[in-house]
Amino acid sequence: EARLRRKLLDLHEAATSFYEEQLRGPEGAIAREYLAGRGLDQKGLEKFRIGYSPDSFNALRDRLSSMADAETLRASGLFSQKEHEDGTLGHVYDRFRKRVMFPICNESGRVIAFTARTLETGDKAGAKYINSPETPLYTKGQVLFNLDKARTAIRQTEFALLVEGQMDCISVFLRGIQNVIATSGTAFTEHQVNLLRRHTSNVAVNFDPDAAGANAAEKSISLLTEEGFTIKIVTLEDGLDPDRFIRERGVEAYVAAIRGARRQSDYLIERARQMFPGATGDQKVKAMNYLLPHIKRIPEALARGQFAHDAAQK
Ligand code: UTP
Ligand code: MN
Ligand code: MN
Ligand code: MN
Ligand code: MN
Repeated sequence: EARLRRKLLDLHEAATSFYEEQLRGPEGAIAREYLAGRGLDQKGLEKFRIGYSPDSFNALRDRLSSMADAETLRASGLFSQKEHEDGTLGHVYDRFRKRVMFPICNESGRVIAFTARTLETGDKAGAKYINSPETPLYTKGQVLFNLDKARTAIRQTEFALLVEGQMDCISVFLRGIQNVIATSGTAFTEHQVNLLRRHTSNVAVNFDPDAAGANAAEKSISLLTEEGFTIKIVTLEDGLDPDRFIRERGVEAYVAAIRGARRQSDYLIERARQMFPGATGDQKVKAMNYLLPHIKRIPEALARGQFAHDAAQK
């Protein structure tokens, strides 16, 4: 088991170098252009070891095949495999093709998986992002993207800034806000809470200002509250996600938005008012019913009382 894990780490290291080389090479021109258009410079690409998987079913396989046997290659998650009609398995082939490759690291900074973004737009794009499957190295809900690079700044600033997307995280980090981590589009899990707890108990949540983001924010608020964290909510104007906001409005405006983050009680009361507008008794009851579980979840009596008071008033 330990030997397999070491081998899989070696394969991921080699794959990361391969994708980095491909990004620099002739095939990578399309991806370099795309990344430059998203405001990533050479330093940023190197810092996050961003790469490119070429449009080929065997480029990575050919590079790695001398390092490990077929079973180990299969276990790495870097390859897919056809199943024949008689149920037997065929050759492994490259899982990631023609995509920008973002390495996912463990807390020690070793690459354990990838997330890969398509360069296509429109219908033929398929999924915008695809991830490594679960492997002996990688379980999706057990990793916080960028925690390896953010941990020092999280301790210094005494809070973590939580965003949804890898691109949000990278973009914000490279502009100097280094205490930023990403859930990678899923709801926050208990395992991730426990990773974070070792570094801070304060979180500023800045999910996308859309329905999906609001739902993910609400779930994360619930879990973090139960686990005794102090939470603030950052809301950005004009439907921008953190990446677009910081690029279009600048770092200072983003820092101001973080400074202006609302307490979770204020955020949730405002959300209740939006979901149940109007002053009829019926709407008020619905709003209060929506808020009650959130209020009950606050572990600290004084803060819980204050939340209940504010909710009743508003
Ligand atoms: P978003 O669609 O908000 O991605 O999904 P984004 O980071 O803003 O992407 P860009 O800016 O278009 O590149 C948020 C996160 O959800 C996950 C990814 O981790 C993404 O960063 N996701 C999204 C997937 O896993 N698969 C998808 O098809 C889409
Ligand atoms: Mn730790
Ligand atoms: Mn989103
Ligand atoms: Mn985005
Ligand atoms: Mn987004």
